[in-house]
Amino acid sequence: MTRKSPQDLRSARWFAPDDLRSFGHRSRMMQLGYAEEDFRDKPIIGILNTWSELNTCHSHFRERVQDVKRGVLQAGGFAVEMPSLSLDESFLKPTSMLYRNMLAMETEEMIRAHPLDGVVLMGGCDKTTPGLVMGAISAGVPMIYLPAGPMLRGNYAGKALGSGSDAWKYWDERRAGKLSDAEWIGIQGGIARSAGTCMTMGTASTMMAIADAMGLTLPGASSIPAVDSGHQRMSAECGRRIVEMVFEDLTPDRIITEGACRNAAVVAMATGCSTNAVVHLIAMARRAGVNLTLDDLDALGRTTPLLANIRPSGKDYLMEDFFYAGGLRALMKQIEDRLDVSAMMVNGKTMGENLEGAAVYNDDVIRPISNPVYAEGSLAVLRGNLCPDGAVIKPAACDPKFHVHEGPALVFDSYPEMKKAVDDETLDITPDHVMVLRNAGPLGGPGFPEWGMLPIPKALIKKGHRDMLRISDARMSGTSYGACVLHVAPESYVGGPLALLQNGDIVRLDLAARRLDMLVDEAELARRKAAWIKPEGRYERGYGYMFSQHVTQADQGCDFDFLQTDFGRTAGEPDI
Ligand code: FES
Ligand code: MG
Repeated sequence: MTRKSPQDLRSARWFAPDDLRSFGHRSRMMQLGYAEEDFRDKPIIGILNTWSELNTCHSHFRERVQDVKRGVLQAGGFAVEMPSLSLDESFLKPTSMLYRNMLAMETEEMIRAHPLDGVVLMGGCDKTTPGLVMGAISAGVPMIYLPAGPMLRGNYAGKALGSGSDAWKYWDERRAGKLSDAEWIGIQGGIARSAGTCMTMGTASTMMAIADAMGLTLPGASSIPAVDSGHQRMSAECGRRIVEMVFEDLTPDRIITEGACRNAAVVAMATGCSTNAVVHLIAMARRAGVNLTLDDLDALGRTTPLLANIRPSGKDYLMEDFFYAGGLRALMKQIEDRLDVSAMMVNGKTMGENLEGAAVYNDDVIRPISNPVYAEGSLAVLRGNLCPDGAVIKPAACDPKFHVHEGPALVFDSYPEMKKAVDDETLDITPDHVMVLRNAGPLGGPGFPEWGMLPIPKALIKKGHRDMLRISDARMSGTSYGACVLHVAPESYVGGPLALLQNGDIVRLDLAARRLDMLVDEAELARRKAAWIKPEGRYERGYGYMFSQHVTQADQGCDFDFLQTDFGRTAGEPDI
């Protein structure tokens, strides 16, 4: 492999020529207090930092970026920090998903437009991982992903608390009148104890693991807790490594191959991934020109054992335990024969090389194949007359009695309408009912909100029920659980068959057959379809308008239709 020389650097186009424009570029770098030799002929590394005080999961990034810079300088590069759109899961309304593609666009455009030879992407909270990675794939310069890492495990009154999962669980207890104010406030103070992402196997942990398995992080980096000093060392190593990647010209197209995407999918299944992984993985793969489909994911879900005993799919442990048990490398070692070990990773080694020496230190946390949490079933893809383009369910996270179920539909057209009903203690509902929320998809939500774990109606909670079959065209949080069918496509807002369902219609789920149907005859469905009126668009202006014109459906990854092309096929870089 030929090594790049300084004259071949992309940034040389900005800084090397003896002309007026380059004079301007150099003088502006000097405005920062740098001498010309500080940046001339050196790889310029952009550090895309999604720090924000409203992104509480990334609160350590203000310090970590210094570690990255230290590494870049040590390796002979020049580092520039660039603030990036920070998509926090905690506060953004209607949903951070609305803005994932905006982060992807910003990332791509800002990399392309600036004198950067390589980038370190700092993210972790749910949508930041796919957003940053999708954009950087399309930009095509060498990149390394620096995962925020999970926060410490939650704690209240001697009990471990898991992000999200335990909030839902204890909220149901509170609604059932079983939790005092003092206990509730104690849980509130104990469930988010440090910087870092949700420490269940939610979307953040899932997506960081996916980035790791795809080869985009230093091996095993995704498991390091955010506040561990090892996280600082990993950050500095990212800085050192990206400089070398620039000289090696190790671009994303050499890493994100079909094998790498499949590796990511297999690992996601073995971790008991968030259902959101489906949408993001498809979108990321497509950016890299790999056609990963819902059917591929269903096939892997059927055959991959769930080995990570982490909530919500696992019962007992959290991400901190996973790290101490050996972390993602140890998990991947268990399923090495199902992975493409020839896949190249950002450290310049193959996955096989990177798994050498990986070991499990607690086989209750990271199970051997001979003793999985579940033999299969992280994810399943359903089809049927309710979801011709697919829907997703997480069999391992729901009561098996719902794996085959028939019951009458109770349909809600909006979230407020549903919320009112679930709080009504006199609601006429049985445990066999199938609760349905529609108009909650990519366009209907808008933005594909995480409403899919519809709350169990109070009327049933009081009688001791904690699960029931629920269906929506929404997503759900990766920390959620229950018999929830999600991502129904096409969504009801664009006239998918879910729009035609009526109260009392019998809905049938047959998980083994991967079917979801409404038992309504064709002629009746045709009559309802003819009477269906297309709702008005949600937006008339702004980003939301662009989103609504171009977002694809859930089975396509919800990227913008004009962005899901492979590496860097744009008009190119302005040669001025
Ligand atoms: Fe940031 Fe869950 S809120 S990862
Ligand atoms: Mg989440």
